Amino acid sequence: MTRPGIRTAGNLRGLPPALWDSRLLRACRGEAVDRPPVWLMRQAGRYMAHYRGLRADAGGFLGLCKDPARAAEVTVFARQWLGVDAAIIFSDILVVLEALGLPLEFVAGDGPRLPRPLRSAADVAALRDPAQAAADLAYVYEALRLTVRDLPADTPCIGFCGAPFTLAAYAIEGGGSRSFGRAKAFMYAEPAAWHALMTRLADTLVPYLTAQVVSGASCLQVFDSWVGNLTRADFAEFVQPHLAHLVRRLPAGVPVILFGTGTGHLLDLIAACGADVVGLDHTVDLDQGWTAVGGPGRCAVQGNLDPCLLLAPRHRLEAAAGDLLRQAAGRPGHIVNLGHGVLKETDPEAARALVEAVRAWRP
Ligand code: CP3
Repeated sequence: MTRPGIRTAGNLRGLPPALWDSRLLRACRGEAVDRPPVWLMRQAGRYMAHYRGLRADAGGFLGLCKDPARAAEVTVFARQWLGVDAAIIFSDILVVLEALGLPLEFVAGDGPRLPRPLRSAADVAALRDPAQAAADLAYVYEALRLTVRDLPADTPCIGFCGAPFTLAAYAIEGGGSRSFGRAKAFMYAEPAAWHALMTRLADTLVPYLTAQVVSGASCLQVFDSWVGNLTRADFAEFVQPHLAHLVRRLPAGVPVILFGTGTGHLLDLIAACGADVVGLDHTVDLDQGWTAVGGPGRCAVQGNLDPCLLLAPRHRLEAAAGDLLRQAAGRPGHIVNLGHGVLKETDPEAARALVEAVRAWRP
């Protein structure tokens, strides 16, 4: 079973015309737009005082993720304040691991921690049931419903999840890592348990993303942030079948963006997983990356400004945005974004200036 391509599927979900013809969804389908759509990964986050205030009110980051009214408010505020063409639901990729039975903590200033990481095949077998885990994430679906209700009618909300590899890496490492040595060692030493884990994750992510679409997400992004650490051969053996199987089972008519960093050597394999849009980070040249995923006639691309440009003098940021837009040259199927998330030390006015530069641009 293959999912019908977004370029031919048509408006299967019966979206209102204003949404179906929004810049983001048109660009995902490779259709012409007056100017490229723009949004920023981590557009709602620590760099915004509004976010920090609501996080304090909610008793911390995870509390905010689990508070649908506040999560929706953070999402809608960032979209509106920046003037971007899409919202992304405020949540985190790791809540899925918690729902599968792994305790999760966010220590302020220290990133995520999973104090009971997976260390054996038995640990994998003991994970919770995928359908039950997806059902337990109802607070995400409720946040989406509230968000979509409060967004302008022509503004899509992107739903998201972490990809099986990136989630497996966190589950085994128990947190972030530089080399992902433990995760790779597990993958090499216990291939059967590794594939069982990837299957369990993908089986959870399908109902999770499907419920997000039912709750109003009109585009989906799968974050495989750390997959660029793998060789082509390891990607093909340990990841690609699961990622492709995941994408194939997602609702038809909803574009899927596959994002990773440091993936210059994997782009053709990532596109072959059935992505409608492939994320490019700033270490990849836009043209080379676009060619690697099949070119504008085949696949859309998203990216790829260095997030550190938002820390640069304004003229430098605007020049880089101009260079990117000129390089894309108005070809259909380009979504302007950063190569990775907004850094917490970013001046919100710089992010807004970038968005304004893209909005003012005409081919
Ligand atoms: O605005 C948006 O983009 C939506 C919200 C969003 C968050 N996390 C909020 C968040 C999204 C899409 C994510 C995805 C996510 N989470 C990824 C994939 C994207 C990427 O950056 O590669 C990953 C790897 C995670 C795991 C995670 N969550 C880490 C490593 C951290 C801490 C370090 C960091 O970069 O922020 C988090 C915490 C987190 N997720 C914060 C936010 C706003 C900061 C929490 C705080 O307030 O302290």
